Amino acid sequence: MSYNNILFEIKQGTAYVTINRPDQLNALNKETIQELSSAFTSIEENNDLKTVILTGSGEKAFVAGADIKEFAGFSIEEGKLLSAEGHQKLFNLVENLSKPVIAAVNGFALGGGLELAMAAHIRIASDNAKLGLPEVSLGVIPGYGGTQRLPQLVGKGKAFEMITSAGMIGAEEAEKWGLVNAVVTLEELIPACEKLAGKIMRNSPKAIESAINAINAQYREGVDGFVAEITEFGKCFGTDDFKEGTSAFMEKRKPSFTGK
Ligand code: COA
Repeated sequence: MSYNNILFEIKQGTAYVTINRPDQLNALNKETIQELSSAFTSIEENNDLKTVILTGSGEKAFVAGADIKEFAGFSIEEGKLLSAEGHQKLFNLVENLSKPVIAAVNGFALGGGLELAMAAHIRIASDNAKLGLPEVSLGVIPGYGGTQRLPQLVGKGKAFEMITSAGMIGAEEAEKWGLVNAVVTLEELIPACEKLAGKIMRNSPKAIESAINAINAQYREGVDGFVAEITEFGKCFGTDDFKEGTSAFMEKRKPSFTGK
């Protein structure tokens, strides 16, 4: 499939998704959201893929937010629809993807850009990254999950500070806050993500899928995360991966998982 606003590449079990509108600091317009949605749907369906590295084109921005020029004239109903469709088509899809998504935050991650990075399972930032949710400075609030995912990651107090001040924080501070997992130089960013992806790919894809479901269950309304863990734990016992992992341990060899 060909895309206008993203680059999509596959290398050794990893899908590389790069938002590619560098002259607009990779801002998320509707078409980009649709293309990302299609790319992530195809990744979910491809059993050969085990991890995803999501980044922005150029050296300046991961994503500088939703496309302000596109939504500036929207009505209440259009605004609501923009948010609802974004949640459903992209941000929830990324969060619930069965393969770990690593966001390589290579510069500005603002508004919808930080929201996209927060929907990913893991975030690694380059030391030039600047992160923030500046929506209230535009008279709007985060609409792609930011009011929910930011407090989950950094706690309610820091989330109130970041959202109401509309301020940006640097990569080092973001690491201290727990908003990103690690900070490296820009040159080291993709290699660091690839190193982590390599470690992930040594493990059972089926067990990883179950772990993602169980971790996400904690944040789902009306769902008891402990009950979800019990269900997912039990499910693992019916997989080929479990048989292979336990046999390999007993036979003192490295497992070779099929993801079945
Ligand atoms: N939506 C639409 N266009 C955007 C954008 C966004 N969120 N962020 C940047 N751009 C565009 C700029 O309009 C400019 O386009 P132009 O050359 O056609 O005028 C281009 O990207 C480069 O941005 P510019 O502002 O010139 O770069 P800068 O280095 O001076 O500033 C930022 C960088 C990130 C501080 C600034 O672009 C900014 O504040 N962007 C908006 C961030 C934001 O509020 N995001 C939340 C949206 S809900």
